[in-house]
Amino acid sequence: MARKFFIGGNWKCNGTTDEVKKIVTTLNEAQVPGEDVVEVVVSPPYVFLPVVKGLLRPDFHVAAQNSWVRKGGAFTGEISAEILVNLGIPWVILGHSERRQLLNESNEFVADKVAYALSQGLKVIACIGETLEQREAGITLNVVAEQTKAIAAKISNWDNVVLAYEPVWAIGTGKVATPAQAQEVHADLRKWIHEHVSADVAASVRIIYGGSVNGGNSKELAGQPDLDGFLVGGASLKTGEIYYINWRNGMKAKEDPRSNNRNEESEEEEESWDDSEESSSSESCCPSSSFNNNKEYHQNQNQNQNNNVLVVAGCKSCLMYFMVPKQVEDCPKCTGQLLHFDRSQTNDPTSPSPSPSP
Ligand code: PGA
Repeated sequence: MARKFFIGGNWKCNGTTDEVKKIVTTLNEAQVPGEDVVEVVVSPPYVFLPVVKGLLRPDFHVAAQNSWVRKGGAFTGEISAEILVNLGIPWVILGHSERRQLLNESNEFVADKVAYALSQGLKVIACIGETLEQREAGITLNVVAEQTKAIAAKISNWDNVVLAYEPVWAIGTGKVATPAQAQEVHADLRKWIHEHVSADVAASVRIIYGGSVNGGNSKELAGQPDLDGFLVGGASLKTGEIYYINWRNGMKAKEDPRSNNRNEESEEEEESWDDSEESSSSESCCPSSSFNNNKEYHQNQNQNQNNNVLVVAGCKSCLMYFMVPKQVEDCPKCTGQLLHFDRSQTNDPTSPSPSPSP
């Protein structure tokens, strides 16, 4: 049974109105395959849900980051599933490890929330995952099985559930699970579901991976047979990262807005792109941001062979350095003017000299 690839962006407790609008604008301009190929869901903080829903393209969807365990009422600070339904919010993330750990949400409490949200018609991204201590103690499967078992005890229909395996030690740490580690847990969990829930659910439920996913590591992870997508935290805040990841997951080259004829490029060329991207510091915007923001680039992508050349550029305003395509002139971070340091003009492209003048 085909499981549609799922890309979730978890913005957590981040963003201003302007920043949120900027990410939405970039997502709206992205060229991605249709909903029949990939499902994209972004999860802004509660207060931004209506604005994001109002501005976001119709083929992308929104998720809340939590919902109350039962019908709303005198529960100060909580948001009920009914309120989300009333606002037309289709998805909710439940059981994120940050809530399990910081707010002591137990397996049973999370399972109750999942069951209640489903009963109200919401679709649920249910998060599970082990801590470093649990992994080192060799009980990873026991932990994720217990978390899943609690949910399985409360629901009978899994059609609207996506399981997000997010090892706690990989979340926000930059320490991503290796493709083999992720695949092992996903496969074990699917086997567990086969044995304890049903063969149908095991075959159809999407198990996505989360924990320090970015454009550089997503491609290999996505190649794992039991990995059906991602829940992306930090990287999803970088404008355009989601569809960049989408591209990295084997979408056809024509979907890549940075490509002239990516289908014809050699693997070697692809690797050099990877190196450029991965060498950019986590402080700087990802190169994809500038690509995505540059409409002119999108329009000219089939005309200019030089579009694939990345150069180091420094911003005259914010003084940050970026790897950008040659023709990008505006800073991806502050839109100030970029000074380009072409590789052909400097022996060391990462050299801070000459410095852009403030
Ligand atoms: P991260 O977060 O990508 O920043 O590690 C993932 C998540 O918490 O969902």
